[in-house]
Amino acid sequence: MKEVQILATGSYVPDRIVTNDELATVIDTNDEWIKTRTGIGERRITTGENTSSIAAKAALKALENSSIKPLDIDLIMVATTTPDCYTPSTACIVQNIIGAANATCFDISAACSGFIYALNIAYQFIKNGTKKNALIIGAETLSKILDWNDRSICVLFGDGAGAAILGCGEEKGLIQIYTGSDGKGANLLKCNAVPIDINNKKLKEKIPQNADNEGYHYLSMEGREIFKFAVKAMGETIKTLLSSSGLTIDDIKYIVPHQANLRIIDYMIKKLKVDKKKFYTNLQYYGNTSAASIPIALDQMNREGLLEKGDKILLVGFGGGLTWGGTIIEWTIDKQISS
Ligand code: ACO
Repeated sequence: MKEVQILATGSYVPDRIVTNDELATVIDTNDEWIKTRTGIGERRITTGENTSSIAAKAALKALENSSIKPLDIDLIMVATTTPDCYTPSTACIVQNIIGAANATCFDISAACSGFIYALNIAYQFIKNGTKKNALIIGAETLSKILDWNDRSICVLFGDGAGAAILGCGEEKGLIQIYTGSDGKGANLLKCNAVPIDINNKKLKEKIPQNADNEGYHYLSMEGREIFKFAVKAMGETIKTLLSSSGLTIDDIKYIVPHQANLRIIDYMIKKLKVDKKKFYTNLQYYGNTSAASIPIALDQMNREGLLEKGDKILLVGFGGGLTWGGTIIEWTIDKQISS
């Protein structure tokens, strides 16, 4: 059976940059607090675009860098916490924008681990021969679910999208994949759906409203608990991937972590006793873009020419749900792409 490989990558971030200093003009915060606690210097915010639009732009960039045509794509998955609609899926909207009429399309809800979950699902489809070319996208417009008056949370996130096309090849591109979830931590990182609002007065009296879902519809987070979870999940995921693949940390050229917080990454660098350069980071420029953070980073590394054929790269994510997961890939693209 043919092996599964990443064939191309693409990404898109909105032009609008919001620096820490600019945020400090509208809420009670400052560059020093944000940088020392998180490492974030600035983030991108969409102006008038929704998740499907930025997801499609990332997808088109990936397609430009491959010999795959939109009609060759037979599976599209969008990992997102911030879909355009409850229905249709963001993936279906993207399908229409890019003209991938032969694809089966659906969204993945696994917060910041969503891209890894999508990789895992695409791998299964391609490996068992059901699908040939999968387009997977992590895309977020988190700015629309942030409370911009809450300094403890709005400074952390940004908008963006990253994509990868997966297909078949001779070399084993996806070496190992691992995912996990723990619903006991569901309340630690949460954004409620819009509550039922029965606008017929007579009916409203007869049907009780869902109390669970009332009130706050912005992202909320127990920061310290998430910090503890993140370092544990990352450590265990890396350990599991290495032991199940028979590799050591020295075999891995780069670790691409979910770009949540530099302090989480620094903690892992110390724990694993590895060179800082092994961990790729770009959260300084984009903040936490949830499901988009890993594919944006991977595409940037590809465009910067950091990845060479044969390199082993470990991607690791963690997020709301709680969810976590990782993969070890071998880079199989021999042609470096220009930015
Ligand atoms: N600017 C200035 N002061 C602030 C800000 C801000 N933006 N936000 C909070 N503060 C203040 C608080 O009001 C508090 O003040 P007080 O002591 O007078 O009450 C003080 O700073 C400390 O607040 P904490 O919330 O306790 O800050 P903490 O040290 O826990 O840092 C942080 C917050 C950075 C979020 C931390 O909890 C963390 O690193 N968490 C990890 C999780 C994470 O990064 N999540 C990102 C998304 S989750 C994911 O991707 C899976």
